Parts: sequence; C-alpha cells; structure tokens
Amino acid sequence: MSSGETVKIGLLGMGTVGGGVAQIIEDSGELLAGKTGARLLLERVLVRDPARGRTVELPPQTYTTDPDTVIKDPSIDVVVELMGGIEPARTLISTALQEGKHVVTANKDLMAQHGRELLQLARRCGRNIFYEASVGGGIPLIRPLKRCLVANRIERMIGIINGTTNYILTRMFLDDMDFQEALDKARELGFAEADPSSDLEGRDAAYKLTILAGIAFNCSLNPDDFPTRGITGVTRADIHYARELGYTIKLLAVAEEKPEGLALGVYPALVPLAHPLATVQDEFNAIFIKGDLIGEAMFYGRGAGALPTASAVVADIIEVARSLQHGGAEGAPPNSNRKPTLLPPAALTSRFYVRLLARDRPGVFGALAAAFGEEEVSLDMIIQKRRQNGIAEIVLVTHDVNEERFNRSLQRVARLPAIEPDPSVFRVLA
Ligand code: NAP
Ligand code: HSE
Repeated sequence: MSSGETVKIGLLGMGTVGGGVAQIIEDSGELLAGKTGARLLLERVLVRDPARGRTVELPPQTYTTDPDTVIKDPSIDVVVELMGGIEPARTLISTALQEGKHVVTANKDLMAQHGRELLQLARRCGRNIFYEASVGGGIPLIRPLKRCLVANRIERMIGIINGTTNYILTRMFLDDMDFQEALDKARELGFAEADPSSDLEGRDAAYKLTILAGIAFNCSLNPDDFPTRGITGVTRADIHYARELGYTIKLLAVAEEKPEGLALGVYPALVPLAHPLATVQDEFNAIFIKGDLIGEAMFYGRGAGALPTASAVVADIIEVARSLQHGGAEGAPPNSNRKPTLLPPAALTSRFYVRLLARDRPGVFGALAAAFGEEEVSLDMIIQKRRQNGIAEIVLVTHDVNEERFNRSLQRVARLPAIEPDPSVFRVLA
C-alpha cells in the first residue's frame, strides 16, 4: 500500500454504483479501517462530465476526463472500473493491470465476454482482478463458489439473476399489470435502464450465467454457447393461467451437469408456487445451488442498486487491501480452459406449458390430443375456455418430454386447420 495502511483508489466511472462506493467510503470509512486496517481513499475519478452533480461531493480536482491520469498514476493501488460496456473499459483494465494495478469491476458484459483473457493477463502481471459485484449485486456469490463451495461437485444451479425482469414479472403476477404497465413502473422506480433491451431479452442474465457457470463447473463458456430467451413474450393471460395451474412465471438462468454434458439456458418458465424461487419478488435475485456435499443451498438478496452493488465492490477493494498487507498478490487464478460438452436444447427433457387458440367446433380437441399422442407426448393438465366469435383458448401442460419430440408434436399441432398459429410455449420447472 502506498502510505501506511491507506489504499488509494482510482475510480473509472461515478454513476449509480460508483456513487454508492463513494457513499460507503464517506459514511463507513472509519468502521472499515477499524475492521480491516485499511483506510480507503478516492484519489482520482474518471467521468465524462466533471461538472455533473454527484450524490457525494469530492474535491473538484479529484475528477478527470483523462483515463491515463488514473491508470498510469503510480500512487494508485487499485483501479475500480464502474463505467460499464466493453470499450473503453476492456482497454483501460488491460492497461491498468500492465501498469501494476489491481482491478475491481462490476462489469458483467465484459467479464462474460472477455473475462478469461483479462484473468490471464492479470496472472501474467502478478495482479488480481475481482468481480464479485458483476453477478447478483450485493449477494455474495463468486467468492462463495470459488472458495466455500470448492469441495463440491455442483450438480445444478437455477437463478433469478435479473432484477428488472423479476420486478416486471412480480407486478404482472401480484398486481395484474400487463407487460408495458409493469415496465413503465420499473422505469419510474429506476430499476429499468433507459434502454432495458439487455434485461428484457435475457442477455444480462446470460452474461451472469456465463460467469457463474464457468466458475461452478470449472469450464470456459461464452454467452453464445446456450439459448437465451427473454420475457417480452410473457402475457397477462399466461400469468393468469400459470396461477390457475399453481405456478408463477420467472426468468430463470439454468445450468445442470448431466452424465452426457452440461445443459445451460436462460428462459422464462412456470415455477411451482411451493418452490423457494417462486417467493423471490420484485427486484430481488436468488440462486439455488445443488452440490454433492452441501445438498441444496440458496443465496438471496438485492441483485442491483447503488448501495447493495457497491457493498460487493468495496468488499473486493478490501480483498485487494488484504492481499497488499500480506505481501502482494500472486496473480488472479486463471479461469479454466476446459471446453465442456454442451447439450443442445433438443436433447433435454422438460415439462411444457402450451396456450393456443382453436376454432371451437367438434373434433378439434380430439385432433389436438392425437397430435400430441402420435409423438408420445403425455398431457398432465388441460384447461379449455370459451372466447368470443367461436374461438376457444386451450392451455395444457405436458408430462416430462424430450424437447425434440415435443417440438415435433407442436409441428403436428400447427398443421391442424382449426388451430391458430403461434401458441405461447414455456418450460415448466419440476
Ligand atoms: P452508470 O450509472 O451509467 O455510470 C457510469 C459512469 O461511468 C458515469 O459516471 C459516467 O460518467 C462514466 N463513464 C461512462 N463511460 C465513460 C467514458 N467513456 N469515459 C469516462 N467516463 C465514462 O452505470 P452504473 O449503473 O453505475 O453501472 C456501472 C457498472 O456496474 C456496469 O458495468 C453495470 O453493469 C454494473 N452493475 C450495475 C448495477 C446497478 O444496479 N446499477 C448492478 C450490478 C452491476 P458521467 O457520470 O460523467 O456520465
Ligand atoms: N440491469 C441489471 C438487473 C442490473 O436488472 O438485474 C444488475 O446487474
């Protein structure tokens, strides 16, 4: 550390999360120094607009628009990247490591797509890169997986790891809002970003799953390795029927080790109301893990927001401080290069929910049942309701079925003249 026990921080970005970090240092600096022996000092802060008002006031000379004055300042011990996005964050982190800085980041987009390259660079430079805040905001996940659960063979991981979509689905379920109304409410409360497409289309959850599953299954993954589907197709009608059948709908990130390989995916699914994940409401996140030694464990808490996320960032800075106190870092452990066998969705087995519209005339129901029966898809639950103009709405839930066979049965259904195209289809969590 530069002088005594002071850790000098160079912050890249001081928006929502960076402001939270500054707040914690201002409010709890003494407490942290007492607990850890490290006094945290915000030495330099890179922003786009130094004149912008900030939640915490820092001396004006702290701000800069020149990244080199942060990452190349020899007095700075740790560079904390809270800008977001791929560039310039990737280049700035790489340069900071080469300049001998330890790095802390909350950037899931970057760590999911370039994490391995950055961890390898950190190792070559004998420096650390910590990224606890990149998944699950304030919930401790990465360190517990890397350390506390390391003796376990992880068998299954199911997460609700996007706060925005969980907030929207919760409002649709509890307050009977439609999708747009719930999205507007999420925006009003500051959960949804100005451009929420990464959240709504499932990409944000896919980045987080890439990071978590890479650690849990000790392998090298890419967000494009698995199918990702967001929540834009979830309607109020689907939420109503899910409730009637004893389920809610959640955006799940799922990773499961099977004898034939690793099955991964992000998709909205019906979750039984009695399942612990069904009780995860609003912007909260939860990750349900099954390990061979620990059995089932669930991590729950706020997955976003200034202070919860900054809590994890500050913990990472303290981790850097501890490594400095104890004689410097040995270099970040590399991510595994192991390329797992990834199972295609068609090879997987699941229960499925289907909602479709049919012309209400004799024989339609029989033809529908036959289309599923011919592919040996067994039906567990069926609801039929009358709609206007001679149209009936039919909702059914299958028993466990191989997805390829299920898709073949849907193709048969689509060929029935009385059935309207584009049914709603979701997986059902067992
Ligand atoms: P934000 O509010 O948009 O703040 C970004 C900050 O970076 C701003 O201070 C901005 O400067 C600065 N910045 C951006 N691009 C810059 C550039 N090219 N040059 C100089 N400064 C630049 O973002 P955030 O919500 O705090 O998120 C930061 C990171 O944390 C992201 O990777 C995000 O995914 C991750 N994260 C966020 C949350 C959350 O709840 N928000 C939770 C978990 C993880 P100005 O202030 O001057 O515009
Ligand atoms: N947009 C993210 C979410 C922020 O809604 O979960 C936290 O990563």
